Amino acid sequence: MIPDHEHPTALWNPFANMAELAGRALPIVSGHGSTVVDAGGREYLDAIASLWYCNVGYGRAELADAAAAQMRQLAGFQTFEYYTNPAADALSRRIAGIAPVPGAKVFLTPGGGSDAVDTAGKLARAYWHAVGEPGRQVIISRSHAYHGMNAYGTSLGGIPLLTREFAPLVSLVEQVPWDDAEALGKTIEAIGPGRVAAFFCEPVIGAGGVYPPPPGYLAAAREICRRHGVLFVADEVITGYGRTGAWFASGRFGLDPDLITTAKGLSSGYLPIGAVIASARVAEPFWRAGSGQVFRHGYTYSGHPAAAAVALANLDLIEREGLIARVAALEPVLAGAVAPLADHPLVGAVRAGTGLLAAVEIAEEARAADPSLGQRLVLAIRERGVITRLLRGVALQISPPFVITEDEIAAIAAAFAGALDEVAPR
Ligand SMILES: Cc1ncc(COP(=O)(O)O)c(C=O)c1O
Repeated sequence: MIPDHEHPTALWNPFANMAELAGRALPIVSGHGSTVVDAGGREYLDAIASLWYCNVGYGRAELADAAAAQMRQLAGFQTFEYYTNPAADALSRRIAGIAPVPGAKVFLTPGGGSDAVDTAGKLARAYWHAVGEPGRQVIISRSHAYHGMNAYGTSLGGIPLLTREFAPLVSLVEQVPWDDAEALGKTIEAIGPGRVAAFFCEPVIGAGGVYPPPPGYLAAAREICRRHGVLFVADEVITGYGRTGAWFASGRFGLDPDLITTAKGLSSGYLPIGAVIASARVAEPFWRAGSGQVFRHGYTYSGHPAAAAVALANLDLIEREGLIARVAALEPVLAGAVAPLADHPLVGAVRAGTGLLAAVEIAEEARAADPSLGQRLVLAIRERGVITRLLRGVALQISPPFVITEDEIAAIAAAFAGALDEVAPR
């Protein structure tokens, strides 16, 4: 047993070295706008919207009110088989209405994006079964990809540090380079199109280091999937509901996906909820009159009324305040603010220019010379009142709430610049 005084907490933090962290995690107790506040009353600009999700900002009383009102009326009830509820029903119609997918049907998931990804992986397989091609079982993903931490998502992940201890988990997965459409085509041909179920693709790679798509890549990959009948799954857990300046990145890039996975920004994280958006093509074998095909999948909290009510209120708020147009307007502001960081000797690259998403990659030589540099930078930036995190051990994340102001964006860039100067070897 570890004595209590050595570890004054029982909270086992995700992705954390608990031997070092226990008792040292920073308690965040409140928030307003793009700012969060620690237990000592110190304020921080949240440059990453918690984990890419608090898009409408902190302290939105109307979302708390929506949850409370729904909870007083009916907090939870299942939607398996015979039941629905007005909130889940309204939310699914609302999502279908804004999705860039004609005739969309919506499968609500209870947690974060990992549930949506595993649901989409299983739905892709179920679809091929339903249409009489059960041999289509392989799912292809990309290097640098992050598709969450459930079984399918872990297996489809393209960040070796996160997957190597667990492989093989789900078999029948393949990986292609993130930026090479030709390689995708060749891989499908090598496996045999009749064995490939789906291709999973983040329109903008997020946790792998924020990589906007290379020019022409998405259109080429989409066309290759179409040619081989492979389902194109847009993982929009980060990009969905406005982060690229359109309701969906699939709309911005004209992807016409077969499935879209979403979570995070659906509720801005006020309650956990996700959604898999299915195109008419994928839904048809299950919804066609007299079909008899059943997608045997679901979670206790699928269609949870309180979470659905909060998501609806969140989408209302995004629309009412014009937050998607705001993201589009701030896209060049953020890109312009972080661009000068590329000149710093510790910086290898700055990636920005697609919505409110950016990354500042630490130069390879600097990381090799000092493996602790990234984490030291994260803490030095926090000391300057800005919260960021390290992606894939190489790049600092910027993905602020949509309500961020131009001055706050400038403050984030200044904190990064100051911290880079502070940790730079003299
Ligand atoms: C593209 C993508 N898919 C899936 C997930 C998994 O989402 P969650 O952590 O909410 O389960 C994430 C999380 O960051 C993500 O960025």
